[in-house]
Order: sequence, then structure tokens, then C-alpha cells
Amino acid sequence: MDRVQSTSYFAAILEFTAHCSGACCRCGDEIVKAALATYTFEHMEIGSYRILIATAEALADTETKLVCEQILREEENMARWLEENLPSVTKQYLDREQTPGVTAKH
Ligand SMILES: [Fe+2]
Repeated sequence: MDRVQSTSYFAAILEFTAHCSGACCRCGDEIVKAALATYTFEHMEIGSYRILIATAEALADTETKLVCEQILREEENMARWLEENLPSVTKQYLDREQTPGVTAKH
């Protein structure tokens, strides 16, 4: 991926994240969209750290590899936590949306 492709790739992710966070619409389900965007972003981070680890291995850079492996575990833990909690976040949003006088936005 060259610099131009990389820039447009990240611009697309930022646009997607803004959309998912509700910044460009008034759907009212920002919490669910933000959880989805975060889950998506965590997986991009996981892929990035796996690439960095492979690169560090190729360069015999043990220190960088160890740091990236530590961060990768944290990213995987966060992705797992989000995966486990997406259904309950969605359920809470739907329950609040159905309850008069209760906001589902925050
Ligand atoms: Fe992360």
C-alpha cells in the first residue's frame, strides 16, 4: 500500500467512524454505532500489530517485537470484551428506546 492508498484508506475509516458514531446523522443509536466503530477499529489495530510483529521478526528486533506482542494482547482483550458486550449494549439501547422518558443516547 503506497502513501496515497494508505491516506485514502485511513480517511475512509475516519469517515466510517464518524458515521458510526452518529456525527453525521440523527438516528439516535449513537451508542450502538460507537460500539460497532470501536469493535471495528480494534480489529484494525490487531492487524496492524500483527504486521509490526512480523516486521520486527524479519528485522530481528526483539525489543519491538515484545512491546508489540504486549500491546497486541491488550487489543485482543479489548476486542473480546467488546464482542462479549455488543449484545448487551444493543439490548440496553433497545430497552431504553422503548421506555418513555428515558434517553437511549447517553
Ligand atoms: Fe485499541
